[in-house]
Amino acid sequence: MSAINSVTDLTVEGDVAVITLNSPPVNALSANVREGLFEGFKAANADPAVKAIVLICEGRTFIAGADITEFGGASKGPSLTEVQDMMENAPKPVVAAIHGTALGGGLEIALVAHYRVAVPSARFGLPEVNLGLLPGAGGTQRLPRVAGVEKALEMMTSGRHAPAKEALEMGLVDELAEDGKLRETAMAFARKAVAENKPLVKVRDNNTKVEAARGKPEIFAAFRKANARKFRGFLAPEYNIRCIEAAVNLPFNEGLAVERKLFTELVTGSQSAAQRYTFFAERQAQKIPDVPDDTPLIPVKSVGIIGAGTMGGGIAMNFANAGIPVVIVELKEDALQRGLATIRKNYERTASRGGLTAEQVEQRCALITGALDMNALAPVDLVIEAVFERMDIKKDIFTKLDAICKPGAILATNTSGLNIDEIASVTKRPEAVIGLHFFSPANVMKLLEIVRADHTSKSVIATSMKLAKQIGKIAVLVGVCPGFVGNRILGARQREAQKLVLEGAMPWDIDRVLFDFGFPMGPFAMSDLAGLDIGWVKERSNGETIRDVLCEADRRGQKTGAGYYDYDENRNALPSPFTEKVIHDFIVKSGANPRTISDEEILERCLYPMINEGVKILEEGKAIRASDIDIVWQNGYGWPVYRGGPMWYGDQISPAKVLAKMKEFQATMGDQFKPAPLLEKMVAEGKKFSDL
Ligand code: CAA
Repeated sequence: MSAINSVTDLTVEGDVAVITLNSPPVNALSANVREGLFEGFKAANADPAVKAIVLICEGRTFIAGADITEFGGASKGPSLTEVQDMMENAPKPVVAAIHGTALGGGLEIALVAHYRVAVPSARFGLPEVNLGLLPGAGGTQRLPRVAGVEKALEMMTSGRHAPAKEALEMGLVDELAEDGKLRETAMAFARKAVAENKPLVKVRDNNTKVEAARGKPEIFAAFRKANARKFRGFLAPEYNIRCIEAAVNLPFNEGLAVERKLFTELVTGSQSAAQRYTFFAERQAQKIPDVPDDTPLIPVKSVGIIGAGTMGGGIAMNFANAGIPVVIVELKEDALQRGLATIRKNYERTASRGGLTAEQVEQRCALITGALDMNALAPVDLVIEAVFERMDIKKDIFTKLDAICKPGAILATNTSGLNIDEIASVTKRPEAVIGLHFFSPANVMKLLEIVRADHTSKSVIATSMKLAKQIGKIAVLVGVCPGFVGNRILGARQREAQKLVLEGAMPWDIDRVLFDFGFPMGPFAMSDLAGLDIGWVKERSNGETIRDVLCEADRRGQKTGAGYYDYDENRNALPSPFTEKVIHDFIVKSGANPRTISDEEILERCLYPMINEGVKILEEGKAIRASDIDIVWQNGYGWPVYRGGPMWYGDQISPAKVLAKMKEFQATMGDQFKPAPLLEKMVAEGKKFSDL
């Protein structure tokens, strides 16, 4: 074996050369890896004793893409294109042997091999779209030539990883190897290619599948239309589509030129910067400075949930989906049966759309059982309480849990803002108590705020973080404070939205500004959807707020056909003259004069206090880092990914501007705009939010 460089080896076995990459953790295409590939293929190409070449990777995966940390910096060593040319133009068969994931640049490398062999667990994808990019090394031109236009559109705009079997069916893989036998299968394939004098297949020359879509612009029009809502605001999906159009309509090299131009535009733009930041921010959020990786974990083989309502049921589904049995405890038989029936209905709805088989529905439902007695929770490893947000009820439950649950069990509450230290104080094991704050609908929303109380043990934290990953959630560790991180920042925005209305902005103006910014909906549309009467008590309502008046008029949101908005028969929201009059009356009563409020002011008034609240949260140590706040807001509240999150956004507009505006608002509107002391300090020191 001879080392090409620190991450690449070349061995020759008989007449087959094997180039082996070993660049942990994911064999990303850093300068070193590109150099190793380039030199390795150059040597193997030139060696007359070598009749075929196999490329294989050590470690957990084949090449998982370009090295994302290198984007934006000066490029060193051979370019990816130079490596690809060396491979594709090899005068002997090149076989890529794939395990783990061949993603992005990794798949683009595999696509210039003449043949591909993979283990059944391997997965294939061009996930650049999730980084606000497109595959910039020929992937946009080669994937449609292998997989066809429809498949390429779907894979490249979703970033989905296709399993090996599907890859085989679409022609992306030539042969499947048995698990554990990748190397020998690829070697045998290479020898056979030599023996049978198989052609050196270049994907670039294969035009059959792209020609099939030529002269059919309706394919693209229909795809754009079907996905318009999903792609709204994002540049990358549209740019990926344009590259596939180029693959269909232009010769290969001209298609490559389109790809290069659009890639450059994306990689230097603000959206991709925010999306690349998000990639690393998500991974950072998993790291807890004082909870080391080797912290002992508590095995969680069974879960108990208290409360069969919407929240409890949704939480239960997460665990059943991961194969973990759940027992749900309710007070009354009818509530329990209703909860279990809703879970079944949800699974059946997924099945009717093709997301699950009938058998999977039965398997998952069988994992969720019900009980009316809390003693059923005695054997479980984790209990999650999901009942009303009332401290007295929660304390009562935790007192009982303390008596019933086995030693070592994790006792979690799904409270969205109550003081978890107070809840823990009624138990003799506060180290076992933690907050697991799911977001509604809990089986769908990605975010899990994991709330660390004063005495929560490191094992309980580490176990909760790991469990979150197991059930497909993005977890962020936060501290105890009213509303925790997400709802506390939401509170700052909601307060401003309500005040703006009393100054003369209409709910639909505010919603439009926030929708155009990229949120899926504005605060008032959201209230209408959730129901205006959440927390509203008819008997105590006295017309004191706009919401009171609307609820008293039975305008309680979409469910009653009217709320802040009127709704037509298709549930389209329409500005409401009724609401407008209610607002007007309120303003007149307060003695104020309604004024015209610019879109710019609406945006600044809604967003800057959120950033300021984020700084306070960091100041109080309730979030570990600014990027954790951004991950909460992206995954729990629909902050547009291409704008990073409130803290990232704050850095883009500049902390000094945020501070100046907050001071301006404070001078004219009062101390609710008082800048956080840390904001003043960081601006004085020239720091950014990302430094916090
Ligand atoms: N570049 C740099 N670092 C990367 C990386 C990449 N492409 N992919 C993963 N990493 C790093 C992660 O940051 C993480 O580092 P830390 O341990 O320091 O946090 C480490 O590798 C392990 O990653 P994960 O925690 O994500 O591990 P996983 O096993 O859960 O997932 C994976 C592995 C599926 C490969 C996942 O990491 C992933 O999706 N990576 C990105 C793949 C991708 O987007 N590739 C396209 C890159 S862009 C491109 O290729 C453009 C082009 O056309 C040339």
